[in-house]
Amino acid sequence: MRKGEKGILIGVVAFAVVAMSYKAWQASEVTEKDPGIPFYTTSSDEFATKASVLYRKYECRDCHSLWGLRNIMQAVPAPSLDGMGSIREEEWLYSYFSAENPQSIIPSRLKLRYQMPSFAKIPETDRRMLAKYISSLKVEDWFLEETKKMRYEKLTGKDYQK
Ligand code: HEC
Repeated sequence: MRKGEKGILIGVVAFAVVAMSYKAWQASEVTEKDPGIPFYTTSSDEFATKASVLYRKYECRDCHSLWGLRNIMQAVPAPSLDGMGSIREEEWLYSYFSAENPQSIIPSRLKLRYQMPSFAKIPETDRRMLAKYISSLKVEDWFLEETKKMRYEKLTGKDYQK
């Protein structure tokens, strides 16, 4: 290999190394900045498991989504329960679930069969557990406004004004 060729080869290799490290650095920047999933629960695993049994038993997921999941056969435009505990307090939830007519608390724009049913007749301990569980479903601050917006639009069918 002649002197000039060697120089070019070194140049090309050096360029490739720099380009690759730049890519790697960019990729690590991206993971650092990716804020991840904003929803979490403050419940213990044990409590969350017990509460999920009630959640299924009372068919909440026929209408609501939670952890991004819902019963795929249903298309009820009910608000998602992800992050609900950053919007509603436990006592509020308990009275809402205990109301004979939940629509006197939150008016509904939906047909009767899609509206939030009354859970006044289920055992008090179940209502307490559901209220405790739903109030433990939090959202990180950076996604709170977006969560409020989605919820408002589901409830009213209107655009959200901050
Ligand atoms: C038949 C569909 C349906 C079922 C079943 C249902 N919901 Fe709802 N829920 C709704 C709708 C729709 C709303 C919005 C108010 C309305 O239109 O009546 C609502 C409202 C709520 C709210 C208030 C949301 C807010 O934005 O303040 C909470 C909390 C809630 N539901 C929790 C539950 C839980 C827990 C269960 C199960 C025990 C459940 N829901 C079962 C349809 C349902």
